[in-house]
Amino acid sequence: MGMAVDVVIMAAGKGTRMKSLKPKVLHRLAGRALAAHVIDCAKRLSARQAVVITGHGADQVEPALAPLADAALALRFARQEPQLGTGHAVQQALPLLQDDGVTLVLSGDVPLTQPDTLQALLALCNGEHLALLTLDMPDPTGYGRIVRSTNDTVQAIVEHKDATDTQRQITEIYSGIMAVPTRLLRGWLARLDNRNAQNEYYLTDVVKFAVADGQPVKAHRIADALQVAGVNSPAQLAELERAHQRRVAQDLMTQGVRLADPARLDVRGELQCGQDVDIDVNCVFEGRVTLGNGVHIGANCVIANARIEAGAVIHPFTHIDGEKLGVSVGAGALIGPFARLRPGAVLGAEVHIGNFVEVKNSTLATGAKANHLAYLGDASVGERVNYGAGSITANYDGANKHRTVIEADVHVGSNCVLVAPVTLGEGGTVGGGSTVTKDTAPGALTVARGKQVSIPNWKRPQKAGK
Ligand code: UD1
Ligand code: CA
Repeated sequence: MGMAVDVVIMAAGKGTRMKSLKPKVLHRLAGRALAAHVIDCAKRLSARQAVVITGHGADQVEPALAPLADAALALRFARQEPQLGTGHAVQQALPLLQDDGVTLVLSGDVPLTQPDTLQALLALCNGEHLALLTLDMPDPTGYGRIVRSTNDTVQAIVEHKDATDTQRQITEIYSGIMAVPTRLLRGWLARLDNRNAQNEYYLTDVVKFAVADGQPVKAHRIADALQVAGVNSPAQLAELERAHQRRVAQDLMTQGVRLADPARLDVRGELQCGQDVDIDVNCVFEGRVTLGNGVHIGANCVIANARIEAGAVIHPFTHIDGEKLGVSVGAGALIGPFARLRPGAVLGAEVHIGNFVEVKNSTLATGAKANHLAYLGDASVGERVNYGAGSITANYDGANKHRTVIEADVHVGSNCVLVAPVTLGEGGTVGGGSTVTKDTAPGALTVARGKQVSIPNWKRPQKAGK
């Protein structure tokens, strides 16, 4: 094993071109803050800590990211106030870094770097050398150029604004990512000055000091620009989002998932699929979603924090969000079109939920059906229950929620109001239009509705002035 890795994540910059009140690194890609992707990457590298350099928007950035720390990765913050350059930024982290490790410098606004790439960079660093991640760019305008000597060794990074015309012809650029033994970094950062075109303390000047000290400078040169692409504007954010989604879609298809159109899929979290899963166009998956073997998802569904068992079909325009409680849909169930499953909906095998039916915090046993325009909240529904169109559980009395129990084989007619707490006994029937306020006996027919009144020769009111 190599040396311990301490990640420094630069996130103090302003990001003016986002034209947003929100700090740049908190803008979302695939449903998560840009900086959260960078922290995830640090976790996958088994880094021992990440030090986030904050400045602009620090009061928002720090509390938003702090919860991402876990047992494996300690997360600490160092404020950079004012922002005097990238070298000055890393200087703020020094008191939190130990000399026995390697410092890996990343940017909070570069979300798509792959752990493999950073592993390769760390391998090149090998606990003893300065190692830079570089990239060839057809248009390198604005970036720091990698200046190499005739024998190809790296001599310096020259910032675009400081570069000569000849240096500006160089297409190999510094990505902003480096790995460096912390003890060397500490010495070099102490030697920085700001005598350059921007009067900034450049982190990139460490290359110059390494060369002066006779230390070799390694470069890991990659071709995939997406991995080092930063987000500076809404257009770039959208571009990286698409690139990321394309990758997710490719991975799913490689696993055998059939996507009607890989360009019309959004996964904002973790989507796990069994065999023979079909997903139609324009579906959005959020949080943790599991789709069992043979599941079919129709067009335009939004599914979050849910488990869909084998063979279930989710028809178009269905919205499922389990939030913290989760939703589960049993094997062979048919859901939608236009259904809404909310937190705590637990549906058994072969359950049918049709159009404009909302289910919240309710369990439906095998074969239960609610096919049209209905609400089931805080209910326990038995096997084979048939729940009629327009029926609702009145589960909320304005202060507390109460449960409705509908035992097996009950038929609830259309347009019923079940006023909880109430239990409908097994095999009973509730006549359409009933308002049920008391428990019903097993097998009984219950009808609870007002008497029909007819007024003969009644005149409909006329509009005034006619
Ligand atoms: C830097 C590199 C340049 C490289 C480019 C890649 C230097 C001097 N130059 O350019 O060689 O090609 O990245 O994108 O390092 N930041 C702070 N505090 C500061 C300044 C910046 O935290 O005082 C953060 C920014 O928020 C950003 C990152 O550092 O996350 C890089 O800053 P940015 O201004 O985008 O890069 P450049 O200085 O233009
Ligand atoms: Ca800059």
